Amino acid sequence: MSPARPAAVVVLAAGEGTRMKSSIPKVLHPVGGRSLVHHAVAAAAALDPEHLVVVVGHGREQVTAHLAEVAPKAATAVQEEQLGTGHAVSCALQELPQLTGTVVVTYGDTPLLTGETLRHLVDEHDASGNAVTIITADFDDPTGYGRVLHDADGRILGVVEQKDATAEQRQIREVNSGIYAFEVATLTDALGRLGTDNVQGELYLTDVVGIASSDGKQVGALHIDDTWQTQGINDRVQLADVHHELNRRTVERWMRDGVTVRDPQTTWIDADVTLARDVTLEPNTLLRGATTVAQAALIGPNTELVDTEVGARAEISNTTSYGAVIGPDATVGPYTYLRPGTRLGAHARAGGFVEMKKAVLGEGAKVPHLSYVGDADIGAGANIGAGTIFANYDGVTKSHTAVGEHSFVGSNSVLVAPVEIADGAYVAAGSAITNRVEAGELAVARGKQRNIRGWVARRRAGTRTAAAAERADATTDTAPDESREHSSEQHDHGQGDSKGPDA
Ligand code: UD1
Ligand code: CA
Repeated sequence: MSPARPAAVVVLAAGEGTRMKSSIPKVLHPVGGRSLVHHAVAAAAALDPEHLVVVVGHGREQVTAHLAEVAPKAATAVQEEQLGTGHAVSCALQELPQLTGTVVVTYGDTPLLTGETLRHLVDEHDASGNAVTIITADFDDPTGYGRVLHDADGRILGVVEQKDATAEQRQIREVNSGIYAFEVATLTDALGRLGTDNVQGELYLTDVVGIASSDGKQVGALHIDDTWQTQGINDRVQLADVHHELNRRTVERWMRDGVTVRDPQTTWIDADVTLARDVTLEPNTLLRGATTVAQAALIGPNTELVDTEVGARAEISNTTSYGAVIGPDATVGPYTYLRPGTRLGAHARAGGFVEMKKAVLGEGAKVPHLSYVGDADIGAGANIGAGTIFANYDGVTKSHTAVGEHSFVGSNSVLVAPVEIADGAYVAAGSAITNRVEAGELAVARGKQRNIRGWVARRRAGTRTAAAAERADATTDTAPDESREHSSEQHDHGQGDSKGPDA
């Protein structure tokens, strides 16, 4: 039997969240890579309701725009003035056609509530034939919450708010989570009969419980032990607590699914990240956004990957990456910065102190040390020597550079875009390349070397350097002759001169 589909889920998110002391609406604050309201809507969507409505009020333009992005199927209902939770639900129902069946109400600021718990609520509601089913929990400190009132036989009589409760009622530790399933007719009828005769002068949704009960309808509770799921966020201290707990749960889930996490305390994994088996996460690793990591990759320590795709067996340490794709068996780091549009092929390498932006590296291509690579294609097997700069910006426009397969760029070169180096070409170390290099060519683009004999003796007489030169001359058998005045021609044909460290 397929699970029962509620007629609607209503997510209340119109409140201001004054205690956040924020210029953005409370429900837009993120935890675990999603806004509070995104978590709420994701849990609601797990019920596959016919209608999903978020009640918005404070900051409603921002909240509505955000929902259009993250939950385009969710409708919004506007509550102009926050006249209470009961009024908020009425505003939602006004947006909907005539309903039959079950309406579930949840909050936009309880991000640990799961779709599974909502499913239990609906199943319990259906199985019991209740008119109203409330999720309740026992709190050690119930201060601030509505308390659940029972009669001598254990039947639920209603909910009394902290502010309206007697001293005796305040002793009750069973609290109303604010998450309910209602039979539609019971809900709409009771909403029409709500009054504001309470300390806050609000239309309380909680009074629906009391009205249904005194009408003789069956009211029940789904009691849950996991109180975190009902934990609402009112201030930044609770935001941090809930974030911590959400992360603890996420990390634990991945460990149970086959991921090694060396230090769960310093590993932060966003809700939308996916990890394969045998991934290892070293301490101080942050995986954020839509990051995905394939089998047996090794990540960390001290690494932040945002919206990054990591291939199988890749190894990434001490790296920051935004929007990069790292191929299987690639190696990255330490101290590497990958920016959007970067794609490393299989077995490619982005080494220490390398920054890349829109850099596409073919299979086995290597940029091992101290380089900036922007707007470039580097062919398979190419090697970019230490300290090479891809100069992609002339102050006005960004231009592209291509380096062909198995080509070799000597250390400390600058490739001034737009420029192309063909397959199987060499660039001598220290070159500034501005023109195309054809296949099989060696490009040399730098000042010629000139050695000036006797310069130290003449211009630095009396220094330790001059003394060292004198000693060196004395121990050299070969008489000084003109052949020591090198021309750069001779050097440029020697392999040694174009060598990078990884040659
Ligand atoms: C509410 C319940 C209380 C319960 C507690 C659980 C009522 C009267 N009380 O109290 O029994 O223990 O939640 O957390 O329902 N909201 C609107 N429009 C409004 C008022 C509120 O959208 O006019 C939204 C808020 O944004 C918030 C939620 O409803 O997400 C709860 O409102 P809040 O004022 O925080 O209710 P509590 O006093 O916490
Ligand atoms: Ca609250």
